[in-house]
Amino acid sequence: MKLPLSKLFTFVQLYNVAAAVQSSSQKPNIDSRQSTSSSTTVYLCGDSTMAPNGTGAGTGTEGWGQYLKYSLDSSVYVNNSAFAGRSARSFTREGRFQRVANALNPGDWVVIEFGINDGGSPYPASSDNGRPDCPGAGNETCPTVYQNATEIVQTFPTYLKEASTLFLSKGAQVVISAQSLTNPWQTGNFSYIPNRFTYYAWLAVAELGGPAAGVYYVPHGQYAAQAMKNLGAAVIDANYPLDNTHTSPYLADVVAQSFVLELKCGTSPLQDLVVNATARLEGAVLGTCLLANTTLPI
Ligand SMILES: *[C@@H]1O[C@H](CO)[C@@H](O)[C@H](O)[C@H]1NC(C)=O
Ligand SMILES: *[C@@H]1O[C@H](CO)[C@@H](O)[C@H](O)[C@H]1NC(C)=O
Ligand SMILES: *[C@@H]1O[C@H](CO)[C@@H](O)[C@H](O)[C@H]1NC(C)=O
Ligand SMILES: *[C@@H]1O[C@H](CO)[C@@H](O)[C@H](O)[C@H]1NC(C)=O
Ligand SMILES: *[C@@H]1O[C@H](CO)[C@@H](O)[C@H](O)[C@H]1NC(C)=O
Ligand SMILES: *[C@@H]1O[C@H](CO)[C@@H](O)[C@H](O)[C@H]1NC(C)=O
Ligand SMILES: *[C@@H]1O[C@H](CO)[C@@H](O)[C@H](O)[C@H]1NC(C)=O
Repeated sequence: MKLPLSKLFTFVQLYNVAAAVQSSSQKPNIDSRQSTSSSTTVYLCGDSTMAPNGTGAGTGTEGWGQYLKYSLDSSVYVNNSAFAGRSARSFTREGRFQRVANALNPGDWVVIEFGINDGGSPYPASSDNGRPDCPGAGNETCPTVYQNATEIVQTFPTYLKEASTLFLSKGAQVVISAQSLTNPWQTGNFSYIPNRFTYYAWLAVAELGGPAAGVYYVPHGQYAAQAMKNLGAAVIDANYPLDNTHTSPYLADVVAQSFVLELKCGTSPLQDLVVNATARLEGAVLGTCLLANTTLPI
């Protein structure tokens, strides 16, 4: 396996386009040129690691979503709808994906990044805080009662796929970003091991059809990890002011820039909205484009 994952998806996409032309069948309307329209909005769905004010005003933390706009064309509006404490499950139950869908216009983008609040199990119900997804990668369900209401809890990939399908139906394109990382220097030595939610994010993209369907995968943890490795223990430790999960404004900006580098290294048309050249991003801090065989979370 030597091709970047993104190139594999491109291959699949080209193959599908060719097949569609041959059979004269209708392609979904995912013309990437829409994304350069002057009214494009990029909606962000995620947790405190992405949200405005991070875990909350006064905690010294900030979410990386607040910095994405600086790397995008000035005509693009970034709506950071991420919210502290949310998981794919609670974002769904509270109607937050639905509200983004209601606001979408064709040609808009949605970036989804969850994971830090998704672990555990909804069972036993007595200790369920409304966040853990049903364990598993497939169509498993965990029927429960949460806050006196019946809830059929789904798996992480199911929530991401349901939300993405809703966004695609509105003519938007979707980036499913693997969760960023906790402090990789917390043991004293650098260590980053992608967890299962990284794999689940990739799986959801693959099962949705990837770029041919207008859905892209960003290995955000892997890219943020190389930047945090480059910056070293002292800088990184100083920029997790609260705990090992939530970044300072400075580090949130680095995490956002890592996301932008990955966009430039990948194939999603969202990269067309980035104002920075790849050559200016690659370097001593952010690192370089990563080969897919090192970013595949499996
Ligand atoms: C990834 O691909 C590169 C280039 O083909 C190769 O040099 C490297 O050994 C591969 N790494 C892994 C972990 O397979
Ligand atoms: C962020 O914190 C500021 C005060 O520091 C507050 O005015 C603002 O409403 C907060 N924003 C969000 C989205 O919580
Ligand atoms: C941002 O998106 C939310 C949906 O998550 C929407 O309700 C809100 O009106 C949007 N805000 C702006 C300023 O566009
Ligand atoms: C769940 O997935 C399994 C394996 O892919 C499949 O056999 C089964 O029919 C699915 N069940 C439902 C209810 O969709
Ligand atoms: C659930 O029902 C109980 C008993 O009626 C009530 O005391 C409690 O406040 C309810 N909880 C919620 C979250 O609605
Ligand atoms: C860090 O790595 C060094 C060299 O491999 C090792 O001696 C040391 O025990 C490690 N420290 C921790 C805290 O794991
Ligand atoms: C791209 O350039 C803008 C403007 O100079 C800057 O604010 C932003 O941080 C840059 N983005 C990256 C990823 O370096």
